[in-house]
Amino acid sequence: MTRNDGPSRRRFLQTTGALGAAAIAGGAEGVSAEEMQAYGDGSRPAPPEADVETILSNMSVEEKIGQMIQANVSTVDADQVESLFTDYHVGSLLTGSAYPPSRDPVELAKGINGLQEYAIGEGNGVPFVYGLDTVHGNVTVDGSTAFPHHIAMGATRDPDLMETAAKHTGDSAAAVGAHWGFAPTSGIARDPRWGRFYETLSEDPHLAGELGAAAVRGLQDGASEHSGVAASVKHFAAYSQPQNGNDRSPARIPVRDLVENHLVPHHMGIKAEPLTVMINSGSVNGIPAHASSWLLTDVLRDRMGFEGLAVSDWNDFYRMVEMHDYAPDLKTAVKEGVNAGVDMAMLSDMEHVDGFYTALLDLVKAGDVPKSRIDEAAERVLRLKAKLGLFADPYADPTKAPDVVGGARDAAREAVHESLTLLKNEGGALPLADTDHIVLAGPNVDNVRTQCGGWTVGWQGLHEDDAKPWATTIADGMTSHTAGRVTVHETGYTYNRLSDDEWSLSAETREAIVRDAERADRVVLVLGEGPYAEGYGNTDELALPDAQRELVDAVADLDTTVVGVLVAGRPRGTSETLAKLDAFVMAYYPGSAGGAVADVLYGDADPGGRLAFRWPDGVGQVPNYYNQYHPAKDNADALFDFGAGESYTDFSFSNLSVSPSSIANAAKTGTATASVTVTNTGDRTGTALAEAFYTEAYGSVQYPRRKRLGSEKIELAPGRSKRVTVEFPLAALAVVPPVAYRNRRVMLPWEVLVVAFLPVLGHVLATWWLTTAVATYLSVAALALVLVVELDVFTTVRMTDGVAAFVVVVTTMAVAGLWAVVQWLSDRSLGTTLVYVSRPVTPAVDTASLHALMWDFVAATACGVVGAALFVLYFQRRVRADERFAAEVAR
Ligand code: NOJ
Repeated sequence: MTRNDGPSRRRFLQTTGALGAAAIAGGAEGVSAEEMQAYGDGSRPAPPEADVETILSNMSVEEKIGQMIQANVSTVDADQVESLFTDYHVGSLLTGSAYPPSRDPVELAKGINGLQEYAIGEGNGVPFVYGLDTVHGNVTVDGSTAFPHHIAMGATRDPDLMETAAKHTGDSAAAVGAHWGFAPTSGIARDPRWGRFYETLSEDPHLAGELGAAAVRGLQDGASEHSGVAASVKHFAAYSQPQNGNDRSPARIPVRDLVENHLVPHHMGIKAEPLTVMINSGSVNGIPAHASSWLLTDVLRDRMGFEGLAVSDWNDFYRMVEMHDYAPDLKTAVKEGVNAGVDMAMLSDMEHVDGFYTALLDLVKAGDVPKSRIDEAAERVLRLKAKLGLFADPYADPTKAPDVVGGARDAAREAVHESLTLLKNEGGALPLADTDHIVLAGPNVDNVRTQCGGWTVGWQGLHEDDAKPWATTIADGMTSHTAGRVTVHETGYTYNRLSDDEWSLSAETREAIVRDAERADRVVLVLGEGPYAEGYGNTDELALPDAQRELVDAVADLDTTVVGVLVAGRPRGTSETLAKLDAFVMAYYPGSAGGAVADVLYGDADPGGRLAFRWPDGVGQVPNYYNQYHPAKDNADALFDFGAGESYTDFSFSNLSVSPSSIANAAKTGTATASVTVTNTGDRTGTALAEAFYTEAYGSVQYPRRKRLGSEKIELAPGRSKRVTVEFPLAALAVVPPVAYRNRRVMLPWEVLVVAFLPVLGHVLATWWLTTAVATYLSVAALALVLVVELDVFTTVRMTDGVAAFVVVVTTMAVAGLWAVVQWLSDRSLGTTLVYVSRPVTPAVDTASLHALMWDFVAATACGVVGAALFVLYFQRRVRADERFAAEVAR
């Protein structure tokens, strides 16, 4: 994988300059009013009208393939960039890995406009769509707002807050000229060894789904008017549980687990109608997700009904060859991936762009990738652009950036208050009193880079001397709260594996901290991890690094109360450390508003977070998610359970009721509610979380020991009560039964009528010159079929769709035959019929009528057989999918 080691503003300036873009030398500060006004003055080339069919029909195969390319501009040299549009006709550009070509918001917007002018004027006229990473804010540019990372947002249990944060993110990304944000991450947290644990929203599928859907709504709000961007539910699917905890290593996940857990948040996100989906870089059960037509077509399109664009992750066609050892060469990988359903390839540089483009063009020429597939993919790209309003107005307004970027500061602070999770609080260690003398020490006390984590103006986090989001640190918050009473000790920083992993506690620092701590009321140690992203964040260690444990040991035996605050992306710290702390707060990566941690420590805000994952006591307890099967015992094998987190006040929960109290027909009931009365029994206002769970004692397959159904968070004054109701769909209780999907009844009423009609058609044709009661026949046949279907015969006898189609047709033929005989009998006199029956050797039969009858029956049969064949073909795709699904479940 090629990564550039940082953006080059100079290069971007050259690039945009080379393209004759608006003059931007001098950067944001130097942008003149006239330059700003240049936007919208009508001098720019206009894109074609948004008639997608016409645009598509005017495109060559080469241009359609170009639409399927997303090129990373951060690595493309100025002298090459034109060729992206003139030689490769690329449909999309991206800022890869949070390295934009410029970190100045205005400069970026103007630069993207410049490129757009070139693409439209000198390329094929079709505007490109520009994407960047927005997993915790529009955090690729200077001065932006970094919200807490996803795993902290899971702790808030607050979809509205998530939507507000995402709305700002979308606005901000649009203001810097982008049209597409690569978020939310909808995979579930399963393994804290994995370097992307913090990018997930929760280990609970429904919580991750609720918040992910909120993020989609927020990001896309206003997207067609350039205040908002397309969202990308990622990484589809089952990326988050690599078997050995290492990023992009293979996942082996039983399909029951896939369906009940991993796919759920993706499906919930897709119901919020994201315009795009990004595909999982890893392999699932032996097949790279990018080559899995089961995942990308059967599940994503046919079952989930996704109609938007499926983009690959970074160079993933190449990974099929170089990493997964799955395809022998790039051409095979491209063939498999595009045919499986990948619509757009995200590519790191010119070399990769060229490789993909050439391979796909060859494949189309050789007929190995059908032209119809290229049309479908290119059309999805064009439809995305149309929905984003790019044909109507492809240019950003750079004047907006300064007002928008860096906003939503209250929401950022609220997210810190709502996510901070108080996991231990003995002897009233917290909240701190304003009069307390505090010693504040540890690696993450005063470090913007650390508190923002990875994917923040850089892939592995901030560069030390670089652009930054706006930020207040924990030390800022503490010292501004009680100036003069906080002594800050810098111990050295915790970095990630790209640099020295950990500082060592020198004797000097240790002595200074101990000396001050002995005289203080409280010691607050801010421990944890540095920033990291993807594989660089993998770890086989959940205990804190040695130097940090030494720091805890240094103050643990003093008489002073010790409060631990963890700034980290996962459950770092084991019982050995926890036992030595009087209080312990999980702060995650709080982002820009690190200072708001102090509001909670001093009790100005209640710690509102509840763990969105189960906290194992070291790697030996991994995997350890809360919704496993029995016989794991609650709490006995983890340090903190899912949902753990205290308030500074106490709550009681009483009078639980469920409505309806019993259910006769689950399919017709839809939703149910659980209600409980929450009372603040303490002496201060606080935040309570009423969270509903469900389980079953036995069943046809094991049931998770608990399943979260929903939650409601409320703030209550002391002594106050509130009745809280959580509504949940009964479908949320479902598990995949042992023979799932094999015995589904999938014929729809109109399909039944079509099947019924085919033999009728034959009958009608045959009886054109006969006098049969066609109308009567029609109603009898239709009635029989409706009864067969409504009585659920297919489900009961466990037929696949193809067999069911045959049964329907044969039943209809039987009815047709029967009716023909009845007709014939009724046409003959009773006497003649009796003669025929009693004297078969010399029948007194009207042979013309008998021939007509036979003709009638043969025609009905022929139509029935043709109908059956057509229906088998029609169902074949779904039957195949069902069989594959059943085979997967049976594994
Ligand atoms: C690779 C990451 O897996 C993905 O999450 C990200 O959006 C892209 N690179 C773009 O930076």
